[in-house]
Amino acid sequence: MKNLSIENILKKSPLPLLESQILLSNLLGKDRSFLTAFSEKEISLKTTEKFFKLVKRRELGEPIAYLLGYKEFFGLQFFINRSVLIPRNETEDLVEEAIKFLRKKNSPTVVEVGTGSGCIAIAIAKHTQNVKIIASDISSTALKIARKNAFLNTVRSIEFRKSNLLQNIDEKADLIVANLPYIPTQSWEKLPEEIKNFEPRKALDSGKEKMTLYRKLFFQSLRILKKNGALIYELDGKIIQVSAGDLEEMARE
Ligand SMILES: C[S@@+](CC[C@H](N)C(=O)[O-])C[C@H]1O[C@@H](n2cnc3c(N)ncnc32)[C@H](O)[C@@H]1O
Repeated sequence: MKNLSIENILKKSPLPLLESQILLSNLLGKDRSFLTAFSEKEISLKTTEKFFKLVKRRELGEPIAYLLGYKEFFGLQFFINRSVLIPRNETEDLVEEAIKFLRKKNSPTVVEVGTGSGCIAIAIAKHTQNVKIIASDISSTALKIARKNAFLNTVRSIEFRKSNLLQNIDEKADLIVANLPYIPTQSWEKLPEEIKNFEPRKALDSGKEKMTLYRKLFFQSLRILKKNGALIYELDGKIIQVSAGDLEEMARE
């Protein structure tokens, strides 16, 4: 195979032009505008081969974010791979709610349950001061990635801890945040291929019912949540805030 120009590589790719441009510019470490400005530039065989390997994976349905190895979230960049969920735009609303809540408190403590890539805890840490953050996950692999993301985003203040929900967390919290799995096992097969074939099942599958994990979390939260504390969580892409008082009432019902 001889060296191809940018223009010819893009022409040869069966993907939509935008996707090809995103993949190629990322491989070259350049902006997309570079591809148009230097369309006649020849690309090395090694890079061309790498590009067409990514094209193949994309044709098989793999999400672009996994092919790039990163995802933007709340203006920050997060390293990701198939061990963690790709951060979703709607989860940025959860971060905003959490920041609003924390700004009203004096040196608060926040616990994140199910941190995955670490995107929620790290975005909160970047936009608040004097906040103690404990971010937990049941998956050691996810925690490794979350730690790496904290390092890459120069956040040193988060304590990452392995825990099944709140099992290993005894600190009193002003706020608990969570984006836990809420797809019941029986709905798994109905998910789009791009999700069910590539994203980690334990990041999405909630078990018997949509609320199986959240119900457990509500109950466990009562043990560590301060009197004026709250829980902010994501369900079906919506952000819900409940006070410690509401949780107590729910537990009595
Ligand atoms: C929907 S993902 C959310 C990841 C990340 N917080 C985000 O918003 O992109 C759910 C995360 O919860 C974790 N998880 C699942 N069951 C858990 C449990 N019982 N205790 C703690 N974490 C759990 C998964 O490993 C996964 O990282």
